[in-house]
Amino acid sequence: MSDAPRDTSGVFGGSDEFGPYDWNDPWPTYDRLRKETPVWRNPEGVWVLTRHVDCEAVLRDQRFSSNPRHADPPRVYAEGDPRSLVEAEDQRTLLFMDPPDHTRLRKLVSKGFTPRTVERLRPRIQQLVDGILDDAADAGGLDVVADLGFELPVTVICEMLGVPLADRDQFSGWSSDASRLLDADIDDELLQRGLLAAFNFIRYFQELFAERRVRPADDLVSALIAVEEEGDRLSEEELTSIVMLLFIAGHETTMNLIGNGTYALLRSPDQRARWGHDPSLDVPGVEELLRFDGPVHVTARIATEELEVDGHRFAKGNTVVTLVSAANRDPARFADPAHLDLSRSDNHHLAFSQGLHYCLGAALARLEGQIAVGSLIRRFPDLELASQPVYRDHFVLRGLTALDVTV
Ligand code: HEM
Repeated sequence: MSDAPRDTSGVFGGSDEFGPYDWNDPWPTYDRLRKETPVWRNPEGVWVLTRHVDCEAVLRDQRFSSNPRHADPPRVYAEGDPRSLVEAEDQRTLLFMDPPDHTRLRKLVSKGFTPRTVERLRPRIQQLVDGILDDAADAGGLDVVADLGFELPVTVICEMLGVPLADRDQFSGWSSDASRLLDADIDDELLQRGLLAAFNFIRYFQELFAERRVRPADDLVSALIAVEEEGDRLSEEELTSIVMLLFIAGHETTMNLIGNGTYALLRSPDQRARWGHDPSLDVPGVEELLRFDGPVHVTARIATEELEVDGHRFAKGNTVVTLVSAANRDPARFADPAHLDLSRSDNHHLAFSQGLHYCLGAALARLEGQIAVGSLIRRFPDLELASQPVYRDHFVLRGLTALDVTV
């Protein structure tokens, strides 16, 4: 197939039974898995699910934990192994928490991300997109990933949190490096880079917190600091961790929705032309882009007791990987799944997960995606690829390295 980089996700557990895995075109591998062994146990004992019905059932079932510490056998690290630092940090991260800590922490931040609160950002998001597209018109083209996909969400999340915009450029490298820590099986160099980026973030945010404690502003960081100072609802470590998660999740993923989505439209000129003439496709169009080539390919849970899915028994402590991108192309759930259909009805994809950890930023990501992609294709009906894009070798967060287009 290809000489693509090795699978760093841990999903295939070193097996090439369904590979080799091709970063630029993972779909045949996912299709084979779903068809031949929809509940597959990889050589390392990790279960991999690819059917929509099974992935949804696991993500909704609270007997599956998000906390890696429930895994059996437990991961044991030698003293000084940097992976133990990642694990310790994970314990404070909302994504990997279970109730009641998860419930407490999520409640503290969810108000800032409801569809109603987010809708108030519409004029500002449109203004930012229009400015980026004006620059693209002057330049005759843009890199959709860097100039729109990164620039828009990073500006929005900086403004929401109260992170000075002038500092945003340095985060580009940090976010990308730190988000690699989500891939389970990275080599030492990526691990060191990821950790360094995480430490840079922590140091940066702690300086910002110190400043906001003295001079609070009308932003999310100041609001969370007030909660932390009030009493025992938010510890200082949790404050740092949640701000870092919001910051990274707030743009690494949406950037890839805009990049992957625009690329999908460039490969489906009929669909792009339809959307270009019909703004009512903004909402269903983005749902279809999320289903078709979503920014998050995979998540995982641990069984906290003996459980059964489709006749397969998972022992307590088993890790179960839900390959949501494969589920989003399951023909049992979606008619003609490899076809991009912007007016697909009943588009119940799993791109934002399901259940307790359903993406907190979904409303924001949707709004940014609708305005960015909708405005881009309406403003530039002659949009064309300037060079062939390639996908980054991130596995969990899937996106392009660049998407150069002429307008
Ligand atoms: C298209 C863009 C996005 C996608 C595809 C996406 C996807 C996801 C997924 C799949 C999860 C759950 C993982 C699991 O179940 O284990 C998640 C959780 C989360 N997302 Fe997003 N996300 C996006 C944008 C955003 C944005 C813009 C923000 C915030 C500003 C955000 C904040 C979060 C947070 C805080 C969580 C953790 C929720 C929890 O554990 O309760 N995401 N996201």
